[in-house]
Amino acid sequence: MNIFNNRTLLNSVIKEYKQTNKKIGFVPTMGALHHGHLFLIEQAKKKNDIVVASIFVNPTQFNNKEDLENYPKTVENDIQMLKNVDCDILFIPSVEEIYHKKIVSKKFYFDGLENKMEGKFRLGHFDGVGTIVKTLFEIVAPNNAYFGEKDFQQLQIVKKLVKKHKLPISVKGCAIFREKDGLAMSSRNARLNNEQRNAAPFIYKVLKIAKKKFITENHDFVTKWVENQFENHSLLKLEYFTIAEEKSLETIKVKQFEKKYRAFIAVFAGNIRLIDNIQLKN
Ligand code: PAF
Repeated sequence: MNIFNNRTLLNSVIKEYKQTNKKIGFVPTMGALHHGHLFLIEQAKKKNDIVVASIFVNPTQFNNKEDLENYPKTVENDIQMLKNVDCDILFIPSVEEIYHKKIVSKKFYFDGLENKMEGKFRLGHFDGVGTIVKTLFEIVAPNNAYFGEKDFQQLQIVKKLVKKHKLPISVKGCAIFREKDGLAMSSRNARLNNEQRNAAPFIYKVLKIAKKKFITENHDFVTKWVENQFENHSLLKLEYFTIAEEKSLETIKVKQFEKKYRAFIAVFAGNIRLIDNIQLKN
């Protein structure tokens, strides 16, 4: 695996590959890799000639300084994991390499997708995501880019970014990877203490029951039921639970059978924020 820190050098190597018609698959990450990330690399390997991963903890997408400072960093281990799955190229830029002297995000308009759910609770988050993903897309110029569905809103926003900026990139969403007990894999899980880690699978358990209830009940009933489950929980604090239409991410008003819905949840375990979602059946 070749490791690059310099964007110009990486971009020129990619250009050479593209001149010989090689297809580039790209998996952007913030490191602290887990099996979910490796699954994205494996998917990328199946459909591309060269697979590029990036590790960059993007400061502009954190609305909380403490969350940024405490974001897990396991670079040596990440490199080994990527080598084990035969990733071809790893890009690990410094903050300066990406932002030069000005660590600020650009302003993006994603037709309102940016103001819902995560956008409402993490102000400026999707400007940061848009800024870094667009920059990385310019450097890596992939044919295909892979994102996990755990960050479903991010996935829809990246699709919108590509469409709005007419980038010749196909954005692929990959199913959520879960631990045996159902907890969605996330780099932030590494920050949970034992007690919090044991409590966290409750999130997916609630989502699965909510999914069942949504078949026969309306969204208000299901939402209130979910809120009740967390009301007296000693370790998990519900930030939001929303049922929304998959594409527009509009909160459901009246169930329409031809539409696809998803339930989205954000929960705090101490100061660690966990998100998850589940596709619903009407
Ligand atoms: O999902 C993530 O890890 C990040 O938001 C991403 C896409 C790498 C951008 O920093």
